[in-house]
Amino acid sequence: MKVLVLTGSPHLQGTTSFLADEFCDGAKEAGHEIVRFDTARLDIHPCIACSHCLKNDGKCVYDDDMSQVYPHLLTAHIVVLVTPLYYFNMSAQLKRTIDRFFSVDSVLLKMSKKLYLIAAGGVKDNWAMDTLKVNFHSLCHYLHWQEGGMLLVLGSSSRKDVENSKYQKMARNLGSGL
Ligand SMILES: Cc1cc2nc3c(=O)[nH]c(=O)nc-3n(C[C@H](O)[C@H](O)[C@H](O)COP(=O)(O)O)c2cc1C
Repeated sequence: MKVLVLTGSPHLQGTTSFLADEFCDGAKEAGHEIVRFDTARLDIHPCIACSHCLKNDGKCVYDDDMSQVYPHLLTAHIVVLVTPLYYFNMSAQLKRTIDRFFSVDSVLLKMSKKLYLIAAGGVKDNWAMDTLKVNFHSLCHYLHWQEGGMLLVLGSSSRKDVENSKYQKMARNLGSGL
């Protein structure tokens, strides 16, 4: 299957990038095709709600790096969102990417896909991931996509907190079990 991984951290060697690497390695070993975009490194303009796409066959007013993402978003069977917890939600870098789904919304709504979520945050309390979980459920509900699975890692402020931990294996298993 084709798997689109969208990461949202500016740290290429950080906590969530490490978990994404493990997930991708597991998925590759299981024979899946992986396409990964580290969205914080891309030039992606936030949606300005200008409705240009609604009047122009889904073409966004911005011709930026989303043009690399769209073809894979439309053809992937599985989409994986990977984000550090920023103020108890996904990072702005990932959110701006998801907001740009808007221009292809009508197509996405008719497609059968599975969504996964991988997130890490420094706080140890269970409630810290509540907003992110609701957001994930809402996205699946709205897009009519199947909920694949979530790996939510609490108490992890940096990469060393997840390296050689049970979360490393869990991320790999999530990928190999697709
Ligand atoms: C702007 C900012 C906001 C953050 N907000 C939260 C938060 O609300 N809850 C939390 O548990 N950790 C928070 N953190 C900590 C990060 O989620 C944590 O360090 C994570 O491991 C970073 O992952 P990364 O290395 O993949 O970017 C925040 C960090 C930053 C820079």
